[in-house]
Order: sequence, then C-alpha cells, then structure tokens
Amino acid sequence: MVETTDEWIVSRTGMKERRIARSDEATSDMGYLAALRSLEAAQISADQIDLILVATLTPDYSFPSTSCLLQARLGAVNAAAVDIQAACTGYIYALSQAKAYIESGLYKNILIVASEKLSSIVDYEDRNTCVLFGDGASACVVSNQGKGFLIRHVSLGADGALAELLILPAGGSRTPTTCETVAAKQHFLKMDGKEVFKHAVRRMEGAAVQCLESAGLDASSIQWFIPHQANMRIIEAIAKRLGLELERVYLTIHKYGNTSASSVGIALHELLCKQGGKNVENILLTAFGAGLTWGASVLTWTEGGECSHE
Ligand code: ACO
Repeated sequence: MVETTDEWIVSRTGMKERRIARSDEATSDMGYLAALRSLEAAQISADQIDLILVATLTPDYSFPSTSCLLQARLGAVNAAAVDIQAACTGYIYALSQAKAYIESGLYKNILIVASEKLSSIVDYEDRNTCVLFGDGASACVVSNQGKGFLIRHVSLGADGALAELLILPAGGSRTPTTCETVAAKQHFLKMDGKEVFKHAVRRMEGAAVQCLESAGLDASSIQWFIPHQANMRIIEAIAKRLGLELERVYLTIHKYGNTSASSVGIALHELLCKQGGKNVENILLTAFGAGLTWGASVLTWTEGGECSHE
C-alpha cells in the first residue's frame, strides 16, 4: 500500500502485528464483547450497572453515543451512559471519573469500556500513520465493594494549544464533510509524529512522577508499569527516566500496535491473566494522546472493603 519495510516498522516502532476489525464490525461490537467478559469476571449482572463510560475517538456515530448503544445491547437498563473523548488517554480519564463517582457515593457499579476501530480513520496511503494503529477493546468494572484493585490515585493533564499535532480535520462542525473534504482526505487522522513523540515522553513521565508522589510511592514499589503502547522508543525513554527496568514494563505493542484508548486496558488484562494475581501489588499506568491529553494512575491490590476491581 505504501513505501515501507518490515525492518523500518519494527525498528522505529516495535510493532510486529496488529489486529484490524472486519468491515462490518464497529467500535460498539468490540466493546460489547469486552464488556461481557468484564461483567463475568466481576460477577455482576448488566442490570446492576449504574453508569457506562465509553472511552473512544472512533464512536459508531457522532451521536447517539456508543455508550448508549452498549447500554441497550447489554440490557443495562438501570445505567446512565456517556462517552469520554480523551483520545489515547481515554481509559485513564474514565478511571478518574469512575473513581470520583464511586467516592462521591453517587454510583456503586460503573462499567468502563475502551474500544477503538482506528482502521476506520486511518489513511492507508499515508505511511506516516498507517503502519501504527490497530483495532481493539478493553473493559473493566469499577465498584464500591469486592476484591480487586484500588484506584489509588489518578493524575490527568491536557494542552489544547497543541490540538493540531494530532487531529481528524473534517467531519465536525468546524469543517463538515463535503466532497472536497473527502477528496482532500480530511476524514483521516493526521499526525505530526516527531512533535507528538517529544510531548509523549515528557508528559507521560511527568504524569507518572506526579501520580506516584501523590500516591506516596516511588518507582521501587511498582511491580509493573503499563504505558500507552504507541512506540517502543517512547516506552523505553519513559522507563529509563523513571528508573524502571524493562523487565517491569508490560508490553503488547508488538502484537496490537497503537489501539488508542483501549491500549492500557488490553495490556492490563493480559498482565493479570499472565500473573494470575501474583506480584501485582502496585501497577502504574500512563497514557498520552490527541488533545493533547495525558494521565497516569496507580492501582493497588486489595482483598476487599472499599475498593475498585476489574
Ligand atoms: N516507512 C518508511 N519510512 C517512513 C515511514 C514508514 N512507515 N514513516 C515515516 N517514514 C520516513 C519519513 O518520511 C522520514 O523520511 P525523511 O527523513 O526522508 O523525511 C523518516 O522515515 C523519519 O521520519 P520521522 O517522522 O522522523 O520518524 P520517527 O522516527 O519520528 O518515527 C513515528 C515516526 C513512528 C510516527 C514516531 O514519530 C512516533 O511514534 N510518534 C509518536 C506517536 C504517538 O505517540 N502517538 C500517541 C498518540 S496516538 C492518538 O492519540 C490517537
């Protein structure tokens, strides 16, 4: 499709494989499957969910929200539903909102779904972006009771002044879709990769440091670090700056590429399956994406009481 090589992609990004959804499969279809698994793992029924938060930048439609589509499909008849648009940081933004709702006492059980069909907005003739992105979904249940991970702290940030570095230019109210915008390929995402790279390293490191400090922890108390899986060189740079050796960094980038909002949740799920509950006392998550947005969270394992669990 484009002038590139496997060698360039692997050496510059760390990506070896990616998953691409079928053409008839939408973001809510992938999210639905992840949500079912998550409800099963949490041993909770859909009608016990009070709120559905869907993190995505590739919703099925501009409206209605993907969370409403999921609410109907899951039969979560008692749940309110809203989408969160924080690009690749969506999962961590969703965790912070769920934490706040639970702590306020407003809701007891919240379903977070992070699902992306990036292949629907990627220009497969643009080698700067088309080799990077994949499709996927992840989900978790955040609850005021049960065994699982306490969302110990979340640190978030944004810099809208840099919005143009990563943008889908047309299709919104600023530039509605026309034959001209389609001809100019403005319905595909555009990224200034080099600039985004620099900010990604600085911002994820900053968020991780701030989050650890607020949680009263240092890097030595973290068993696993799960960064947004956008580029292996970004991940290595952050791990080095944080003083975390690569053995403690959980990687899925080689298998899935950059799956935007769902990336951290997919990695977390895989890590927990692999570890079987062992050596996962404190996990540090961090992500960065369009907006620009960034965030970090520390999850701490707990056996019960007031906690949040996956
Ligand atoms: N195959 C071969 N060559 C390529 C390809 C490719 N697929 N893509 C770019 N190149 C070329 C460029 O044209 C350039 O050639 P030139 O020097 O002749 O102009 C050369 O490779 C170097 O290009 P750079 O852009 O400098 O490459 P870089 O090393 O920066 O890697 C990349 C590019 C992988 C995009 C990197 O910048 C990156 O990962 N950026 C951050 C992405 C990110 O973190 N995104 C997170 C948010 S995603 C979200 O929110 C949806």
